[in-house]
Amino acid sequence: MTPIAVRITRLLAVTAILLATVLSGCTQDSDAPSQPADVATDIGSADTVPGEEDAAMDCPSKCDDWLACTDDFCDTATGTCVYKAVLGECTEPIPTNALEVGPYLQWAIQTEATIMWETTERCVGAVLLSKVGDSVWTPHLEGSFETIHEITVSDLTPGTEYAYRIRPCLDDEPVPEQWAFETFPESSDSYVFSVWGDSQDHPEVLSDLAEMMWDDGTRFAVAVGDVVSDGEVKEQWKELLFDSIASFSPYIPFFGAMGNHERNAEWLYKYYHLPEPETRFAFTYGPARFVVINGVTAYSMFDPQGAWLAEETESPEWKEASYRFVFFHEMPITNLWGHDKIDGEPLIRKVLMPQIEDKGVSVLFTGHAHCYERGYLPAGLGMFLVVTGGGGGGLDTVVSGDWPEITVAESKYHYTRVTVTPETAVVTAIALDGSELDTFDVLPGPIE
Ligand SMILES: [Fe+2]
Repeated sequence: MTPIAVRITRLLAVTAILLATVLSGCTQDSDAPSQPADVATDIGSADTVPGEEDAAMDCPSKCDDWLACTDDFCDTATGTCVYKAVLGECTEPIPTNALEVGPYLQWAIQTEATIMWETTERCVGAVLLSKVGDSVWTPHLEGSFETIHEITVSDLTPGTEYAYRIRPCLDDEPVPEQWAFETFPESSDSYVFSVWGDSQDHPEVLSDLAEMMWDDGTRFAVAVGDVVSDGEVKEQWKELLFDSIASFSPYIPFFGAMGNHERNAEWLYKYYHLPEPETRFAFTYGPARFVVINGVTAYSMFDPQGAWLAEETESPEWKEASYRFVFFHEMPITNLWGHDKIDGEPLIRKVLMPQIEDKGVSVLFTGHAHCYERGYLPAGLGMFLVVTGGGGGGLDTVVSGDWPEITVAESKYHYTRVTVTPETAVVTAIALDGSELDTFDVLPGPIE
C-alpha cells in the first residue's frame, strides 16, 4: 500500500470512528487528561512512543498534546484518543513538513472564516480554534489530502476575537505560533479598509505597503488584481503575493479580484477561498456594501455576471447601504499608461460600465494602469473612480489619455486607505514614503 493509500485508509477510518463516536455521545474518559488550558504550553512537544500496535495503550498519556482528546476524539471503550491511535500520532513523527505559505485568512466575515496554508507534501491538516480568553479549544480536521489547505470554521459570533493554531499536517509537529482574527461585527460605525493593485513583480514594494496597511489598522484589504505577473506560474503566488502580505494575512482577510495577469489560472481558485464562482462576490461591513466582480476583458465578457450583478444591485443589502463600493481590475479610462496608445479599456466602458453606472455606486476601484488616479464619472447617478494600480508593477508614466473626468494622476507606488464613518468615507492614497498623494470625501446615502 502506498503512503498516500495508507493515509487515505487512516482518514476513512478516523472519519468512521469519529462519526460513531459522535453518534454514541462519547464523553471523555475521566482518566484521560483534559488539557486545552494546558495544551498551549505543550504544542511544541514531540511524541516519541514507538509502534502503532502499542498506540491504544500508550496514547492516553499523550493526550495532552494540542489536538487534545476532546469528546470528538475520545474512544470511551478503551479510554484512548482516537485521533492519535488511528492517525498514527503515537508513532515516530516524520520530519516536519515545512509551511510553504501562510497561514492566511480568506472569506473571514461575520460568522465564518477560512484558514488556509500550503505544505510541501499532500496531507490532512487541522486547525485548533478558541475564542480569545476562552480555555476551550475546538479542533477542526481537514476533509481531504492537499498541499494547499483550507479549513472553514463557521457558526462564529460576529465581532468576536478568535485565536487559532494550525497543524500543517497531522503527522508533523504542530506549529508553535498562535494567531488571531476578529470576525466582522453585525454593525460598525467606523473602520478602515485598504485597496491595492498590480503589485506584480516587485514584492518588496507590496511588502512595505502591506506593513503600512497593517499599521493603519485596516480591518481587511481588497486587491484589484494583477497580484502576480503570470498566474500560471505557481511559485509566483508565494514569492510575489503571500510572502509579501505575511504581515497581515494571518490576522485579516484580503479579497482578491482577478486581474489579466492572473490569467484565470487554476492557482487563483486554489489559493483563494471565496463564494463560487470566486470571481464575483459581495459582503457587507457596517454601513458599506462591497461588490467585487470580474473586470478583465479577456475573461469577463462571456461571464454571465450581468444577471448576478442586477440581482445584487436590487438587493436590500445594496440599496440600504450608506456606501456602495465596487472593485474590478481594468479601468474604464486612464490618462497614464506605458505608452500613448491606451487611454482605457473600451469593452469595459461599453459592456461593464452600463451595468453599474446608474446603480448608486459610491466609488469604483480598479487597477490595471500602474499609477494612482482619481476621477468622477458623471454618467448615471455618478460615481468616483479610483485607479489604484501602484502596488509594485513598473509604473506607468506616459500621458496616454485626455479624460477631463480624471482630476488627479500620480505615477507613484501607493495603496489606498478608506476610513468609513457614518458622516463620510475618507479616501486617501498613501505613497510608499508615507506621504498623502490624494484625499477626498465620499458622502453617504442609501438609494431611494
Ligand atoms: Fe492588468
